[in-house]
Amino acid sequence: MPNPSPDAALPAHTTQDVARTKARKAGAIDRRSFLEFLGIGTVGFVLIPGLLSGCKSETVAPKTSAFRITPLQPTASDALELAPGLNSQLLIRWDDPINATERFGFNNDFICYLPLDANAPDEGLLWVNHEYVDARFVSGWDELRPKTREQITQEQLAVGGSILRVSKVDGRWQVLANDPMNRRVHGRTQIPFNWPDPIAGTNAAVGTLANCSGGLTPWGHILTCEENYDQFYGENDPVSGKRQDIGFDQGWHTHDPFPPEHYGWVVEVNPRTGEAQKHVALGRCAHECATLHELPDGRLVVYSGDDANDEHLYKFISSAPGSLREGTLYAANLDQGIWEPLIHDRPELNQTFRDQTDILVRLRYAAKKVNATALDRPEDIEIDPVNGNVLVALTNNTPKGNFYGSILKIMEENGVHDALRFSHETYLAGGEETGFACPDNMAFDPQGNLWFTSDISGSKTNREPYTAFGNNGLFVVPRQGEQAGQVIQVASAPHEAELTGPWFAPDGRSLFLSVQHPGEYSPSMAELSSHWPDGGNSIPRPSVVVLSGELLDQLSATSSEKAG
Ligand code: FEO
Ligand code: CA
Ligand code: CA
Ligand code: CA
Repeated sequence: MPNPSPDAALPAHTTQDVARTKARKAGAIDRRSFLEFLGIGTVGFVLIPGLLSGCKSETVAPKTSAFRITPLQPTASDALELAPGLNSQLLIRWDDPINATERFGFNNDFICYLPLDANAPDEGLLWVNHEYVDARFVSGWDELRPKTREQITQEQLAVGGSILRVSKVDGRWQVLANDPMNRRVHGRTQIPFNWPDPIAGTNAAVGTLANCSGGLTPWGHILTCEENYDQFYGENDPVSGKRQDIGFDQGWHTHDPFPPEHYGWVVEVNPRTGEAQKHVALGRCAHECATLHELPDGRLVVYSGDDANDEHLYKFISSAPGSLREGTLYAANLDQGIWEPLIHDRPELNQTFRDQTDILVRLRYAAKKVNATALDRPEDIEIDPVNGNVLVALTNNTPKGNFYGSILKIMEENGVHDALRFSHETYLAGGEETGFACPDNMAFDPQGNLWFTSDISGSKTNREPYTAFGNNGLFVVPRQGEQAGQVIQVASAPHEAELTGPWFAPDGRSLFLSVQHPGEYSPSMAELSSHWPDGGNSIPRPSVVVLSGELLDQLSATSSEKAG
């Protein structure tokens, strides 16, 4: 198979550049090849080209595996517990050096593995998001006095993302120390806006932060999403424009008065160069993720959820091939099954918003004016590779009494992703009967099995109403066999941690996984509630692990058998 990005070193500062770059690459690799190269859509029964075109009859089911997954029972231990047939290796921990001057950031989340060469799928780049900091660990802040300039800089350098050169040698993954491709994108990186007009007065922002989940473009760039951005530089009230009291923020604005409007965007990063751009056309909110689908004519559809109580689900449809700038952003109205356009010539919007830029900056406010549906914290989004359904994790909405969350299924009209109408239903509901609560990140493996993680707040795990679920976990929903459709727990996180960012290697036999915020609710540095991963009296460290073993081998073998 061809190299997915032979000229990816070329920077893509604007969407026109992206489109041009993409067009240049079109002869080298198409989307299907790229996805196959990544191990997404490689399996006979996975129907990428005919996807959503009503050709389900072409689907060929793989042979049913006799392998049976033994579920892991919920546990409250301070360990990464695994179901039989899985093992883990620690790949990298917070504060590990990645080169002579930079270190792996804090609270790792979204992961994306990109092989560098099709002939060597075990050699590649790993992108890892760093969402936020616990200042006690990262800068030694004592919570008693204002942070110093140095403390804030330390914290800014611990968010954003890491690019790591990795390889698998003798069955074990390793980070190549000091590789020239190892680099950080962080809270002080200068990042231009991909937009003609300035945002809050400038054409570039200082830094990316709150990098929660993300996505991947067909041209092999990362989309990293700025979720709870208000925790760093605060937020301005969308109506009055005055600073909002959000209860707590990291206080970075005390030394760096950067505008809150510079954060809350979907950020594209070229993993080969580290060059980044913020995509204004996708709107500004607490973006959990950005899940991209390429239409047959090269235009793009991007789904993104705004993870806060009663916020909304969005879809961007580009009007030009490969563009993340030209197009229309829509918000979902589930009651009517309509994607509502957020465009300035709508009377509901042009009386309040100065122009299209103003709509995109104050997106939540605009979405409510067009009757977007209030959702129960939309988190990760995945497109089912077999049938094209769009799955949206709705994690919970405790003020409304929804403690366990669900996974929503969106079915686009006529099975096309640029449809403006859709139907929907609940795909899976959390609760003691199904054995999970608060779904968050999801991933389909190359065989089309759904994997997802849970995010019960570390302050609530093992307490009512979550006692039955133990610590947060990783779950699989097999697609085939006698366990098809069952929700099976296969991993359990250490104390107060959340498993995030699941991403499969192309062969489906390695699963990269973040262990985020162990010991987050430690009463003090002297009384730590987790010592994972190093044990003893060590401080907890968010880390990336790689899962492998018979369980993944067997699930992979099911499809290999078929594909062969
Ligand atoms: Fe950062 Fe919505 O999880
Ligand atoms: Ca999340
Ligand atoms: Ca995902
Ligand atoms: Ca979450």
